[in-house]
Amino acid sequence: MLYDNNPTINDLRVPLPDSVQGSPYTAEAVNEKSDKHFYIESYGCAMNFADSEIVASILGEIGYSSTREMEIADLILINTCSIREKAEETVRKRLRIFDKQKRRRPGTLIGVLGCMAERLKKTFLDEEKLVDMVIGPDAYRDLPALISNAHDGEKGVNVFLSREETYADISPVRLDESGVLAFISIMRGCDNMCSFCVVPYTRGRERSREPFSVVAEATDLFQRGYREVTLLGQNVDSYKWSSDDKTVKVNFAELLRMVAAISPLLRVRFSTSHPKDITDEVIETIAGTDNICNYIHLPVQSGNSRILALMNRTYDADWYKNRVDKIYEIMPDCTISADIITGFCSENEEDHKDTLEIIKYSKFTMSYTYYYSERPGTLAARKYEDDVPLEIKKRRLAEVIEVQRQLSYELNLRDIGKTYEVLVEGFSKKSQTDLKGRNSQNKMLVFPSQEGINPGDYVCVKVTKVSSATLLGEITSQHQ
Ligand code: SAH
Ligand code: SF4
Ligand code: F3S
Repeated sequence: MLYDNNPTINDLRVPLPDSVQGSPYTAEAVNEKSDKHFYIESYGCAMNFADSEIVASILGEIGYSSTREMEIADLILINTCSIREKAEETVRKRLRIFDKQKRRRPGTLIGVLGCMAERLKKTFLDEEKLVDMVIGPDAYRDLPALISNAHDGEKGVNVFLSREETYADISPVRLDESGVLAFISIMRGCDNMCSFCVVPYTRGRERSREPFSVVAEATDLFQRGYREVTLLGQNVDSYKWSSDDKTVKVNFAELLRMVAAISPLLRVRFSTSHPKDITDEVIETIAGTDNICNYIHLPVQSGNSRILALMNRTYDADWYKNRVDKIYEIMPDCTISADIITGFCSENEEDHKDTLEIIKYSKFTMSYTYYYSERPGTLAARKYEDDVPLEIKKRRLAEVIEVQRQLSYELNLRDIGKTYEVLVEGFSKKSQTDLKGRNSQNKMLVFPSQEGINPGDYVCVKVTKVSSATLLGEITSQHQ
């Protein structure tokens, strides 16, 4: 029996394998107990994607196998994102499609999962008549009960936010068909109150997962051939766990070392770091451990200290630059990427210039860029006026993108002639004769394939040509 899936990711904090970026694909068998099928689409960040793998596991236990054909699904699920208005619009559009399907195949159940479910709660059922179930991110264990009730005609909502739930004991059903890269959630929720952000409301309080279950999951992945894990959290630097008797305490630097110790052949990445929390110990741990990748996603949001204060990011531009200096001082070959928002409340042209300046100062190799989208209920929505006109937000966004594109190209040019160790992920998007993979710095390399080289192998690639997004090169030797 096949395990099929159709995840669609539209807002990634960490690169996902191409196989799961918006394209349906087929993975391995999980269930032979039943002919019931579920179909799931996922939107939002990598954490949502990881949650869909937990949901797949819970549904497998009650006899559902996954399909990428909505037409044969008994249960259609959509794992939603609320981060910007556009993300929610996309979900509403998908619901219209599901509506048609439900009419064609009466009895099909429709469930809304994730952040939008949490934000809208019961009102979702009033607004969207076709929806049978609304389930928040901490309530997935309740899915079997909600499905059973829905079969009896009873619509259900569970948006309880937990202070403890980490799904530590659930073994996620992996959706990456290449079998090389995987995500591991190490914490849930967020205790920061960035004024623009809906996540603390949709994901609840921050809690850290028991570290030994993280190591066990990573070990299992390694034994099954995976060669890279990305540890996920909204703010990984504030990871902290202690045993009930408080005799064992683990912070993020220690967790990184524990996972990295599994094997030198297992690459370790992580996302997202918060500039206020990233410690010298973490930076030194990355520097001192070969298989922890030299790449830090360190969202800056704005380069202007007044705007950063309004955003409640709790650092200013100088603090951010100091962190960047420290990273490059300890690891000259480390790369840094960021998230940036343009047109936040009261942002003027001078403030915007500070953002363009900090991009160059920090030498970001990549930025994820957005224009500000007011989210109901957030601090900013309650306290500040969303007063930058849309066209100005968009123009500033275009400027940020252009400055970043130029910078990425210039930084990539410096890589010509260098040789990097690359973990092979699969064939390149454009060609079946070229392979692709990333170096430790998270830059994508594309190079002609060679006999006997497979996904999961490490190769050395010499860079010969670059664009702003990719390095092209040739294999010089194979490691493993
Ligand atoms: N925990 C991460 C961010 C998670 S949300 C961090 O603190 O960096 C991912 C990104 O979406 C944010 O970094 C921010 O750049 C963007 N974002 C969040 N809320 C937004 C909003 N209301 N409008 C536009 N972009 C937003
Ligand atoms: Fe949102 Fe800030 Fe938490 Fe990131 S750290 S999820 S931006 S509140
Ligand atoms: Fe992620 Fe979107 Fe929720 S970015 S945490 S899925 S609001």
